[in-house]
Amino acid sequence: MMSQIEFNQVSKRYGAVEALRNVSFLIEPGDFCFLVGASGAGKSTILKLIYREEITSEGDVSLDGVNLASLSNRKVPLLRRGMGIIFQDFKLLPRQTAFDNVAYVLRALGMPPAEVRRRVIGALKVVGLLDKVDAVPEELSGGEQQRVGIARAIVNGPRLVIADEPTGNLDPQSSVEIMALLEQINQRGTTILISTHNLTIVEQMQKRVIAIADGQLVADGILNNLPSEAAIMANYNLGT
Ligand SMILES: Nc1ncnc2c1ncn2[C@@H]1O[C@H](COP(=O)(O)OP(=O)(O)OP(=O)(O)O)[C@@H](O)[C@H]1O
Ligand SMILES: [Mg+2]
Repeated sequence: MMSQIEFNQVSKRYGAVEALRNVSFLIEPGDFCFLVGASGAGKSTILKLIYREEITSEGDVSLDGVNLASLSNRKVPLLRRGMGIIFQDFKLLPRQTAFDNVAYVLRALGMPPAEVRRRVIGALKVVGLLDKVDAVPEELSGGEQQRVGIARAIVNGPRLVIADEPTGNLDPQSSVEIMALLEQINQRGTTILISTHNLTIVEQMQKRVIAIADGQLVADGILNNLPSEAAIMANYNLGT
């Protein structure tokens, strides 16, 4: 279920802007992978193609062998239900409690209240926020808000979680905690793809890295094992 991601010679243009050029990679079910690159390199575009916010100009994006171009707009909500999406700015409902933020999607699906409660409490337990179920976002720290974002992303049991700069608004300590949490979720079998600028964390975690520069894939592998030229290029392009 929606956990293998394949990009086959993907190009994406926004009008005259060529955001991606001939990008190919394969992420297998259960993988944990970082997507790195300078601002404007094309990271968010790659993620948007996966959750079908955008469509390729050329080439194919497939999830578990299903070409997303063949998916009708009507089926997009169903596609997204099978994945968890985490954003840099959390995108929480400001007047709702942590519980209600996480419960929102399940209620929208018409799930019975007892089942909603069981699942929401389960997800908030995973992220260590059982003591904050009744807090609204402004009563939570940035790291705590992002943990609510993660609970919301995993509450429906997705096989794939994608995160666009999940630690972009967090201090170093919270960033490490959020990444550790995502690693823990990965260890239960969920495929994880994370875009990030945070090379310190990427280096610490020793996971697969796909590096994008100027819309092109410049490196793909465990950071220390990358061909040095590609590693330098990736670093060069990351130097803020
Ligand atoms: N809707 C859009 N319309 C026009 N150009 C766009 C649009 N979205 C992105 N772009 C352009 O496409 C390129 C890639 O953008 P993208 O958002 O994918 O980069 P990014 O790697 O996520 O950058 P950042 O690290 O700053 O988030 C940039 O040149 C950007 O200006
Ligand atoms: Mg981006």
